[in-house]
Amino acid sequence: MTVARAPAKVIVTGEHFVVHGQPALAAAVNLYSTVAVESGSPGTVEISSSELGIDASFQTGAIDEKNLEGPERSILEPLMLVVERTLERAGSKGLGLRLQVKSQIPVGVGLGSSASTAVSTAAAVAHLLGLQLDKGMICELASVQEQYIHGKPSGIDATTTTYGGVVLFRIGQSPNHLQPAEEVRIIIGNTGTARSTGDLVSKVSHRVQLGDRDLVRISDSAGQLTLQAADAYKNKDFQQLGRLMDENHELLRQIGVSTPQLDRLVKAARDAGALGAKLTGAGGGGCMIALSRPADDKSISKAIDAAGGRSYIVAIDRLGVRID
Ligand code: MEV
Repeated sequence: MTVARAPAKVIVTGEHFVVHGQPALAAAVNLYSTVAVESGSPGTVEISSSELGIDASFQTGAIDEKNLEGPERSILEPLMLVVERTLERAGSKGLGLRLQVKSQIPVGVGLGSSASTAVSTAAAVAHLLGLQLDKGMICELASVQEQYIHGKPSGIDATTTTYGGVVLFRIGQSPNHLQPAEEVRIIIGNTGTARSTGDLVSKVSHRVQLGDRDLVRISDSAGQLTLQAADAYKNKDFQQLGRLMDENHELLRQIGVSTPQLDRLVKAARDAGALGAKLTGAGGGGCMIALSRPADDKSISKAIDAAGGRSYIVAIDRLGVRID
């Protein structure tokens, strides 16, 4: 049996605008998905998640014929696509496999749970089959799942969870890896409202396609802001990074992807001393993040909980996907 593990991610600045060619800054954080894989009956791939209480059995090469519903369809079928791609790459199409998926990452709230499980799946299956893949290849195999779920992802989620650390990302360019800083903490606040990244991304994309001038202007500002945020991070100017995160939240509010619940958690974090706070991921519910000095992390986390969120004080994961 092989077990692979990959981290969750948060977007520090630049979500949505990254889909339209702007840079974005993201960090891998220490909540993990794990995928355990072993050989199974030839031609059959069984995938299960005991935590979610779901399982499905697929015949290799026959995924389109399945007619699954609910989470089996939205969670397990896309993972099967990753398995098929990896089997193909290994020249082992007819093999049978059994996969057990576990995750500490809340689903559908902007922390990259789908990208993380896809990356763990590609890495675990490749390792079991003796396929030597570098991280770029694992990320590429995993991205078939994101395309299936989100339609037009930028690739930032899969890249961040694959490589770990802090990543300055832009479509079509190699990711730029920044040295993770020890001087600040990230606190996640989960509103508990799940939503579809794909739907939110297509709403914003639709406006871009219609040539919405405000959106294009906001997108350009967000791109500039991300470059300044990356500089602030490198220079350890965390006051400035926090200010830029606040500004980024305002831009995301202007394009309509924040919610009163997210705004409430953001305000609670700022009032409790956060250097900056913003929604993270696609918005529309999901999570926010706060940047904090280590001394303030507990009071910020309490304030988020008191405002109705579920907080997590997280650390940067430096390794990305690995075989356990
Ligand atoms: C989702 O984590 C980030 C978005 O920008 C979508 C994407 O980049 O694929 C909203």
